[in-house]
Amino acid sequence: MSPETIILGIETSCDETAAAVVARDAAGRGRILGDVVLSQLEEHSAYGGVVPEIAARAHVEALDSLIAEALLRAGVALRDVDGVAATSGPGLIGGLIVGLMTGKAIARAIGKPLYAVNHLEGHALTARLTDGLAFPYLMLLVSGGHTQLVLVRGVDDYERWGTTIDDALGEAFDKTAKLLGLPYPGGPAVERAAAGGDPDRFDFPRPLVGAARLDFSFSGLKTAVRQAAQAIEPLTDRDVADICASFQKAVARTLKDRIGRGLKRFRESHRLVADPALVVAGGVAANQVLRRMLQELCDANGFRFVAPPLALCTDNAAMIAWAGLERMAGGFDPDPLAVAPRSRWPLDRQAAALVGSGKRGAKA
Ligand code: KG4
Ligand code: ZN
Repeated sequence: MSPETIILGIETSCDETAAAVVARDAAGRGRILGDVVLSQLEEHSAYGGVVPEIAARAHVEALDSLIAEALLRAGVALRDVDGVAATSGPGLIGGLIVGLMTGKAIARAIGKPLYAVNHLEGHALTARLTDGLAFPYLMLLVSGGHTQLVLVRGVDDYERWGTTIDDALGEAFDKTAKLLGLPYPGGPAVERAAAGGDPDRFDFPRPLVGAARLDFSFSGLKTAVRQAAQAIEPLTDRDVADICASFQKAVARTLKDRIGRGLKRFRESHRLVADPALVVAGGVAANQVLRRMLQELCDANGFRFVAPPLALCTDNAAMIAWAGLERMAGGFDPDPLAVAPRSRWPLDRQAAALVGSGKRGAKA
């Protein structure tokens, strides 16, 4: 058996505190040895969103014991770890400082390299850990803070093809839920309500459908939902269900148009790729209606649809450890202990920031 490299990963960029130990063999196969995630959902739910100060304090309280737990589950001692990878952006700066400082301290104490990982790169490379996917491929990241279609060419080699020009998709679900009186986080609540509703009762807009550019926009949809709700107040359960179903249908139609164009563009620009693939990541990937639509779209276009297990689609530290392993294997230099966290850190350094995109900037 080939020797394995082992990295300890730390994730604290938003409202999940996470630590994981991941191994990679010489052939590039990954193995998760220990993976723990502590969600702060309860701390934040009363506020209807993530409160940065509460998040940072919760990371401080939980991180040390989570790291110990991940090592314990992995059956790995700190001295057997070959490197430390910590998320250093993008995200909430307080949380990033907690995770990165902890990673630096451990790396220094055990005399091993530190990798300051871009959280988005963690999402982007997860399909290589779970499915051994080869470069290049397309990734759709749909979370509370990001909606991006990215060409993944290699480690540290990304081209952003589309992004939201206003709200992230998860944010649109959360805001829709809030204005309908559904609980936070809104995505699962909207999906549950939609299951019993009529998707054709309201004809909501499908922003940017037909546009040549591959960007997304969801704030107009949110406004249309608000207006529809106000027009028929007070809302019955049936009204709420119908609005949710119609909203979800509009989202599915928009995504289908945007991603469909992306798949065609990939085909045209990568004619030699025999087995093209679309990977999905982020909390919105939990949505069964959207998943089904993406699966059908991929089937129709000859793409493989890769949806990692949900626990690896949402925020976790296994993806951060894996990104560190990929960087190490790819010969990328480790980061100096002076490396600073960054609340903003686009994957594609050439892509212009679009007005309003990722303005919440907290979740990825
Ligand atoms: O990736 P994630 O767990 O956290 C970050 O944003 O980093 O994503 C959370 C987002 C929230 O906006 C939540 O409402 C949305 O994912 N979400 C869903 C569903 N489950 C979670 N959106 C639609 N349908 C779902 N079933
Ligand atoms: Zn994320």
